[in-house]
Amino acid sequence: MIRISPSVLASDFSRLGEEAARMASCGAELLHLDVMDGMFVPNISFGPPVIKAIRKCSPALFDVHLMIEDPGRYIGAFLDAGADSITFHIEAAKDPRAVLESIRAAGCKAAISLKPATPAEAVFPYLELADMVLVMTVEPGFGGQSFMRDMLEKIRTLRHECTRRGLETDIQVDGGIAEDTVAEAAAYGANVFVAGSAVFRSADAAATIAALRRIAEAHYAEAL
Ligand code: DX5
Ligand code: ZN
Repeated sequence: MIRISPSVLASDFSRLGEEAARMASCGAELLHLDVMDGMFVPNISFGPPVIKAIRKCSPALFDVHLMIEDPGRYIGAFLDAGADSITFHIEAAKDPRAVLESIRAAGCKAAISLKPATPAEAVFPYLELADMVLVMTVEPGFGGQSFMRDMLEKIRTLRHECTRRGLETDIQVDGGIAEDTVAEAAAYGANVFVAGSAVFRSADAAATIAALRRIAEAHYAEAL
């Protein structure tokens, strides 16, 4: 199933609750929340109290993307804040298997992410424990960067491996997703699309979300 996940990193932080509500009313079924600790990435965003505060403003599923060192320390806090899915980076986790298991044990969707330099094969040992794999299509840390086309083969490798194992794992892409890049990402096998700038800088966010979904559906169908 194709889903669009607007990233509030590109929203007006002074009106975060309204922005979260607006995205749901514009047709987004997920809301992407980028958590940065200033260590794993050279930027700091927000943490569990902010997510908990806006949880009540939106009926969307909260798709929490942890760009933090040793994410296992904070899984409980993000579960308590209202996360519906928690993504952490394989490069940051001491024991990825234990982190995936702790997320799932709480009834939350668990996802594992790879930075651009990390090969697809790094997550192969964990695919059976992951509901979603996030392929970063920019260096994590900042919105508004250009989509890295050389990540397309990584998306395809992961989709093929999941299919080969009989897994219907979601494959998410994050970074530089817009109407001109979503088609290729979908054609290579991605089905969940994070979009920050493309949605929040749009004069008509609902139309942009609908267009991203329509283009992705057309090209994902082509790929299968
Ligand atoms: C980058 C974040 C992204 C970011 C995407 O580290 O993980 O979610 O908000 O922003 P755009 O869509 O503007 O590239
Ligand atoms: Zn993100």
